[in-house]
Amino acid sequence: MRMPWLPLALLALSPSLGRAQITWAPQPMSLSDSDDFANQQRLYELLRQAYFTDYEAARPSHRLQHVLSEELSDFYRKVPARPSLALAVAMGKYHFAWYQQDGKEMDVHSVREAAELLGLSIQFSQCDRPDLPSEVFFQRMCHARWPYAILLFSELGREFASRYLTEEAADTLERAVATFETMKRLPYYANGPWQSPYDVNFNEEFFPAAAHGPVWEKAQVPLAELLGSLPLEELRQLGEDPVFDALSFEHSRLEGQDSWPEGAWRAVEFKGKDWQTRACHFAPRTCSFLSTRPELGCPNAHAALVRLRPGGRLKPHFGAAPALQLHVPVLEALGARMSVGNRTLSFKLGEVLVLDGTFIRQEWHNGVRGEQLVLKVTICHPCEESQRPLYGALTCARPSGQRALASAAPAPAAAASVPFAAAALWAAGLPELARCSAISEQCPPDSQHGGPNPLSALNTWNYAMNNLRAALRHSAANVDPEVMTAIGQVQAGIQSFLGAPSLEQYAPITQLAEQIFEALRPWLQQQPPAALVLPRTRRSFAVPADGRSPGSLAFRLSNGVEMPAIGFGTWKLEGQACYEAVTAALRLGIRHIDTAEAYQNEAEIGRALREAQVPREEVFLATKATSVALGMAETQYLDAIFANQLQALQTDYLDVYMLHAAGVSGEKLQEVWRNMERLVDLGRVRALGVSNFGIEELEALWAFARVKPVYLQNIFKVYKQGEQILGKSPLSVLDWAQEHGMVMVGYSTINSWPHLLPPLEDPHVLQVASDVQRTPSQVLHRWALQHGVAVIPKASSVERIRENAALLDFELSESQMAQLDGLATLSESTEGEKRPSWREDVFGLGQPAPAVAASFVEAMRDQQCIRQPEEVKATHFTLGGGGHMIEHCQKACEAQADCGFLVFYEQTGFCHMFRSCQQQLPASDGAVLWARQ
Ligand SMILES: NC(=O)c1ccc[n+]([C@@H]2O[C@H](COP(=O)([O-])OP(=O)(O)OC[C@H]3O[C@@H](n4cnc5c(N)ncnc54)[C@H](OP(=O)(O)O)[C@@H]3O)[C@@H](O)[C@H]2O)c1
Repeated sequence: MRMPWLPLALLALSPSLGRAQITWAPQPMSLSDSDDFANQQRLYELLRQAYFTDYEAARPSHRLQHVLSEELSDFYRKVPARPSLALAVAMGKYHFAWYQQDGKEMDVHSVREAAELLGLSIQFSQCDRPDLPSEVFFQRMCHARWPYAILLFSELGREFASRYLTEEAADTLERAVATFETMKRLPYYANGPWQSPYDVNFNEEFFPAAAHGPVWEKAQVPLAELLGSLPLEELRQLGEDPVFDALSFEHSRLEGQDSWPEGAWRAVEFKGKDWQTRACHFAPRTCSFLSTRPELGCPNAHAALVRLRPGGRLKPHFGAAPALQLHVPVLEALGARMSVGNRTLSFKLGEVLVLDGTFIRQEWHNGVRGEQLVLKVTICHPCEESQRPLYGALTCARPSGQRALASAAPAPAAAASVPFAAAALWAAGLPELARCSAISEQCPPDSQHGGPNPLSALNTWNYAMNNLRAALRHSAANVDPEVMTAIGQVQAGIQSFLGAPSLEQYAPITQLAEQIFEALRPWLQQQPPAALVLPRTRRSFAVPADGRSPGSLAFRLSNGVEMPAIGFGTWKLEGQACYEAVTAALRLGIRHIDTAEAYQNEAEIGRALREAQVPREEVFLATKATSVALGMAETQYLDAIFANQLQALQTDYLDVYMLHAAGVSGEKLQEVWRNMERLVDLGRVRALGVSNFGIEELEALWAFARVKPVYLQNIFKVYKQGEQILGKSPLSVLDWAQEHGMVMVGYSTINSWPHLLPPLEDPHVLQVASDVQRTPSQVLHRWALQHGVAVIPKASSVERIRENAALLDFELSESQMAQLDGLATLSESTEGEKRPSWREDVFGLGQPAPAVAASFVEAMRDQQCIRQPEEVKATHFTLGGGGHMIEHCQKACEAQADCGFLVFYEQTGFCHMFRSCQQQLPASDGAVLWARQ
């Protein structure tokens, strides 16, 4: 919910801390009257910046606390006239005005106001309307607003009860129950099992059919057993070390006033981008153990050492889903407690607690001495597809009729077939790449967009190399180190060329790449697809799969304009061909057409629209300002160009008008944008958009735009998920856009343009297409939709237009989404670095190549050794539990004199070791029998 973009100029705080200085002015237009979510994010960031100004770990203080409270009160008074502020003020109060200013106890007035305001925000955003489509319910974060309203009322009620204010307690708890009952009547929550406000949790949104409760049995979670025997001395020392406070400040997420008194509750995070954090330096054994665990292999997972001092408390909150938490007491203190949902727990040394922190949760220490120190490990939810093999018989299926928030179907825990070897051969063998063996007329160094050129050729080689590396890695083949060195040289050469092209470097890189493939082709040709259990990646959007018509799925822009999510692109369609294609698209029910000044086909589109006789208001018409935006015409011509576009399209307004690219900047861009805004003021344009903008450009525009763009049209294909050239931001453009209330429309989803790889032929895509029995084009467009990205495929024939629109009668599972998401990492990663940084490492490209022990040979597949008589087993027969890697299994076998064979189950990570293996039995779970040499 936080964003780094708020103009800091607004925060010009002087040491005198005058309150006028943090008021939202002088940019009142930063407020939206329709997008209350964007307002919330802006106010949150503003308050957060102010709250932490002058804060230091060694001298924690929040001298601005009273200023913030007064500012919040000012905003509170504005809400009746401006209900779009209700959410912002409610969450501002939750984050920054939970405790009284002297930090003693809950500020009950402030919390009551926050609860009432959340109720108001629910009405404002229509989250209480039973007819709100579930995807809109989700987009407006209704599923978070309701639980927060319940949290605020119920915790306020509890506070009154603890102060023996029985009447207030009864009234407030009744409000909590009434809010809960109203929420439960919404179709989104229909048939849900929750009975009371304290049953609310977020994990159930992901896995409704799993058994849910605030506290889990330890025996259900193998990692809990292992953590129970973790040596704790280094954690104890870290908790006592003065560095703890500094580390906690460094790593804290700085969420605002989340605990009191200052410093009484502190956490030190062990996992940053990786497990090499400064905190890990003080707790190397803990980090090295946790870093190998598959239970922490998903985005939500992390680990922290948490310290609670006497008299301290952490206010009620929800944890992010899907995840579970394991709490390992390191020091135990009398009086330290926590509540999770309706359960209250105390801590005992040696007893690991397993809980679901997505229930309402808080911690407190009523004792007067002794610190509570706990290692808190947040793990992937056992029902996540990547985790299922670790947990044996666990019920996770999603029953029909339950609310299905994340759209992906509950695919069984089967491994995905990932054809790295075939993809490596395919990419390296593309005819267009062959034309780029050397720089020539066929492969000119002038790398204007599209077609064979050195840059796109090296991009393609990088994809081939990463697929090759993955094929080697997942085959567990015994790889000659020289091969790995050569691959590394090619990839290093590619990166250096892409950074600073130098033509003489080019041929040596491609020649070495060709030699590697020449040598490995026979091996690659024999490799089957790797069987991988893929971790879940981003959360999917709920996209219907009930066969409804393509025009009926709409994404709502944040200014309220509805945009059909499946449109039609018209680039390179000209004259009669364009007229016919657009006519066919309209006949097939498509109600969203995309064009541009540069396409020179607006007149044909206008004619098709008029003759199709579809009412104008039923069609969503998007076009682009090309020449002005690209600096090819003076800004004063925008009006004239726009008027020509309207005339050609035979309409008097556009649904979206966008800048075709960020061609101009600074003053010039501001002038162009003012002209665009004027078109909105005049009622000629319903929504403004931009195209081909990266995060920096969006931020620049955001800083001055009075009317913010609500629409972003960028490249969105499996290899380039938002940007033609990968930027350096740790956030993807899509995330940035969605966090700022913009809807993204993806272009060139199936085209090779402007690079060389044709996604429709990619073996990875063909594999998923064959799994779901749909065409590659349908799979790729559906993939974009499930990311919340609208699509505008262009096609020339009726058959293809029909095919491309048939996207609402099937869905991609989490695993298939992850497989397609991972293609960006195969496209962008270098030898030593998984890229894009924001994309999950589903194929393990960021991990060092495992050194497979040379002393084992693969003897058989899908076979296991018989386990009788008992003497055939090695002294240590099993590594215990699943989730291990082959190299751990081999090392364990090597460490035993009597281990001659091992069976490793690739899908579950179980490892069994034998003295002898004279008889075998068929086995599932990807069993591989290895013989020690
Ligand atoms: N804002 C920008 O800068 C920008 C840039 C590029 C594109 N766009 C917009 O986005 C739209 C889509 O992008 P795009 O045109 O580059 O690429 P695309 O829609 O991803 O791909 C179009 C190509 O795929 C072929 N095709 C279509 N359906 C197919 C199918 N079912 N099976 C096999 N091939 C199929 C088409 O061939 P046929 O035509 O021969 O059927 C055409 O060659 C454009 O038309 C334009 O409106 C915007």
